[in-house]
Amino acid sequence: MNPIATIDHVGDYVGQAVTLRGWLYNKRSSGKIQFLQLRDGTGTIQCVAVKSEVGEDVWSACEQLTQESALLVDGLVREDKRAAGGYEITATGVTPVGESVDYPITLKEHGVDFLLDHRHLWIRTPRQRAILKIRAEVQRAMGLFLDSNGFTRVDPPVLTPSSCEGTTELFNTKYFDEEAYLTQSGQMYMEAAAMALGKVYSMGPSFRAEKSKTRRHLIEFWMIEPEMAYYGHEDNLRVQEEFVTYVVQHVLQHCRGELTTLDRDVTRLESVQAPFPRMSYDDAITWLQDHGHSIQWGEDFGAPHETELAEQFDRPMFIEKYPTQIKAFYMQPDPERSEVVLCADMLAPEGYGEIVGGSQRIHDYELLKRRFQEHSLPADTYDWYLDLRRYGSVPHSGFGIGLERTVAWICGLEHVREANPFPRLLNRLYP
Ligand code: 4AD
Ligand code: MG
Repeated sequence: MNPIATIDHVGDYVGQAVTLRGWLYNKRSSGKIQFLQLRDGTGTIQCVAVKSEVGEDVWSACEQLTQESALLVDGLVREDKRAAGGYEITATGVTPVGESVDYPITLKEHGVDFLLDHRHLWIRTPRQRAILKIRAEVQRAMGLFLDSNGFTRVDPPVLTPSSCEGTTELFNTKYFDEEAYLTQSGQMYMEAAAMALGKVYSMGPSFRAEKSKTRRHLIEFWMIEPEMAYYGHEDNLRVQEEFVTYVVQHVLQHCRGELTTLDRDVTRLESVQAPFPRMSYDDAITWLQDHGHSIQWGEDFGAPHETELAEQFDRPMFIEKYPTQIKAFYMQPDPERSEVVLCADMLAPEGYGEIVGGSQRIHDYELLKRRFQEHSLPADTYDWYLDLRRYGSVPHSGFGIGLERTVAWICGLEHVREANPFPRLLNRLYP
């Protein structure tokens, strides 16, 4: 019995016989030699079967293999400088495991709707594999940074009785005799947790019933939400720029192969280093007006505004202190100018737009209560949230970073849908 190897580790077995377990990605034949492209989740490798050496049985087994059939390959590991991964397998045996008849995704180009209908198979292609690997590495990097900087992971509920980011984009569902909503953000629960544990974060799905069909919007997406007691606006921005710098540099260090598969220009990522440039909302409006936009103070930015603002820089930028009227009810007013709040959005370069939204939170009981009235939010469902201001309230801040938007930017994707394994989109719940 040969040792079982994975493609990413065949280099440990040069000159030895191994068994690889995978699927046939592609095949070509010269009549006397068959070249099997085997993939196993860790990578792809060429296995060469020579007719005169493998014998009739193995040769005809190779001939019958179709795209995406599952198989075991026995063979000798050879170093080969010309091969993509640096190694090749001289096949000595082939064992079919699971057949694959008329695989729908061929190696030619397909339309995106077709691919999304077959997302469960599409994820097997090298490009999608690379994206999923980078997504996992981004999540790992986020956890590493936060865990080693004194944050405790706390998991907020998915089913909630109230909204966090406005009532227009809520998914509702029956909760026995009550109405429940799928979470839009775990922030309010993270605020409670920060008062218990100091620095906390969550990492999980968020739901927005947004009728937006843009390259930046998903109906279900993942958000990472750190929350810090005794942190003000300035502290909040510092954590964010260090956090994003760490994540990008970590991916550059650990995912070179995947970034190459995606043809990502890594020089655009290498320049991502804290500190990040900042612009006030006021200055951003003036800058946009000077650059031919008709936007007025008090209006929110659209995607083209964000893209142009961020194009000035080679790393993400902050836009801070937005008008109170266009931001969420819980944001702390600027003590020097009550018409703006102590918040910031982080805009990624290269047209990816807002990847982080964060703010200092209102810690004053009376002011928060007034905001509930102004926003017509039902006092009873938020009473527990007001308790946080009744019992030992302190200034605190936090932010939410969208996982798919961050991955789309790091990978250089055209659309966030490829950054989620099974994206939920407007008009798409399948597969
Ligand atoms: O700016 P948002 O709405 O902020 C919050 O939800 C805060 N409660 C977070 C906090 O302070 N704890 O969302 C935060 C981020 C956005 O910057 C974006 O990256 C992502 O979540 N996001 C989406 N990503 C994909 N599809 C959508 N529909 C998204 N909506 C928000
Ligand atoms: Mg936002």
